[in-house]
Amino acid sequence: MKDFVMRLTIFITLIVLESIHCHPTCPDDSLISGCVCRQTREVGSLPDLLCKEKGVYVDQVIQNLNKHSNGEILKFGKLYWESDVKVPITDNFFGNVTFRKVMIGTPLKFTYVTYLSPKAFVGPIMKELEWFAIRSYEMRNQDHLYKAIRSLPNLKYVAIEGRYLVSVPTRAFQPLCKGSDSKYCPNTHLRRINFTEGLHETFIFLTRIEENAFQGLPNLKEVSMKQHDVHFIADYAFACDKPISKKLKIDLSLQWSREFNTDSFSPKALMGTNRPTELILFGNPHISHLPEVVFGPFFEENDRQNTLKLGQKMSCSCEMYWLYSQPERYKPQFIEWKFTAKKDNKEQHYLVMCQDDTDLWDLEPSTFNNCTSEYPINDDKDEFRDEL
Ligand SMILES: *[C@@H]1O[C@H](CO)[C@@H](O)[C@H](O)[C@H]1NC(C)=O
Ligand SMILES: *[C@@H]1O[C@H](CO)[C@@H](O)[C@H](O)[C@H]1NC(C)=O
Ligand SMILES: *[C@@H]1O[C@H](CO)[C@@H](O)[C@H](O)[C@H]1NC(C)=O
Repeated sequence: MKDFVMRLTIFITLIVLESIHCHPTCPDDSLISGCVCRQTREVGSLPDLLCKEKGVYVDQVIQNLNKHSNGEILKFGKLYWESDVKVPITDNFFGNVTFRKVMIGTPLKFTYVTYLSPKAFVGPIMKELEWFAIRSYEMRNQDHLYKAIRSLPNLKYVAIEGRYLVSVPTRAFQPLCKGSDSKYCPNTHLRRINFTEGLHETFIFLTRIEENAFQGLPNLKEVSMKQHDVHFIADYAFACDKPISKKLKIDLSLQWSREFNTDSFSPKALMGTNRPTELILFGNPHISHLPEVVFGPFFEENDRQNTLKLGQKMSCSCEMYWLYSQPERYKPQFIEWKFTAKKDNKEQHYLVMCQDDTDLWDLEPSTFNNCTSEYPINDDKDEFRDEL
C-alpha cells in the first residue's frame, strides 16, 4: 500500500511538473510593468509579452524577469516591442528569458533601438528564436547587427529595417558554427528575408549588395528588397554552393532613386544561384535594356528555369537583339505582366514592353537590321564552380 501511495505521489508530481513545464503561465503583472502578458488559449502555447506603450524600458522588464526567475528558464512565445525609448540591446540581453518570435518594431510601428550587440542572443534564446524582426529609426552598427543575426541557428524569418544601415555584406546571414569563428554552418533554416517590413513607412537604406551576400542559405525562398535604393549588385550575390530544387524569389522592384540601371549589375551578379530563381525588376525605369553579359547566363543557368519579371518600358535597341533573335529560347522565361495605357484604357499583356508599347518579339525585323550580337553566349559555369 505504502509503495502504491508513493508511486502515485511520484506520478502526480511528474504530471504537475510536466504541465508546468509545458504550459508556462504569465508572470505577475508587477514584474512586467508597462508591458502586458497575454496567454493564448491554444494548448501548449507560450504566453506573449506585449510592450506597446510609449516610454516602456523593455530592457528593464527583461532584467526584472531574470531577477525573479531564480535561474529557471522563462519561456515566452512572442515579444512585441513598440516602445519608443532609445535603448541599446547589449550582451546577454535576454538572460534566461526566451522567445520564439522577437519583433523589435512591428510592420505598423518602428522603434528607436540604437544598437544590437553581436552577443545580444547569448543564452537559451539563441536556439529558441525562429523569427526576428528589427525596425529602428536609430540603428547604426550594421556589422554587429548582422553578426548577432548570424549567431541564431534556428532562424526561419528575419526582417531588417534601419535608417542608417547601408548594405547586405558578404555572407550576411550564414550562421557561424560553434567553436571556430571562420567555419560556416552548412545548414540554416532561414526561409524569408525581408528588408521592407513596414506597411506604412519603410526606411530606404540598402544601396549595395556585396559579393556572395546571400551565400549558404539552402532553404531561402524569398528575399524582399523592394523600395530601397540599390544601385550595386556584386558577383554571385545570391549564389549557393550546392544545387537546390527549391525556388528562390528575389524582389528588387521599385528602387527609389534613378541610379539603379544596367550598370548596377556586376557581370556575374546573377550567377550561381544554383536553384530556379525568379527575379522581379519592375518599376525600375533606368534598367532600360538587358545586357547579355549579365542576363544571358541568368537565363541559361539552372536548367533554364530562371524567370524574370519586368514592368517598365525597355529600350529595344541592338542591346536587346540577342533576345529578339531567339524567341523560342527566351520568351518562356519572362513572366507576363499587364499594362493599361491611358489613351485607350485597354489592358495589354507584355513580356518585354518597348518604348512604343510593342512587345519586343512583335517588333519588325528591320528594327534590328544593323545589329550584330556583341556577346556570344558561352557556358562558363565550370569556370565559376572552380572559383567557388
Ligand atoms: C540563468 O540561469 C543560470 C543557471 O540557473 C544562472 O547561473 C544565471 O545567473 C541566470 N542568468 C540570469 C541573467 O539570471
Ligand atoms: C515583408 O513584410 C511585409 C509586411 O509585413 C509583408 O507584406 C511581406 O510579405 C514580407 N515579405 C517577405 C518576403 O516576407
Ligand atoms: C542601318 O545603318 C544605315 C547606314 O549606317 C542607316 O542609314 C540606317 O538608318 C540603319 N538602320 C537602322 C534600322 O538603324
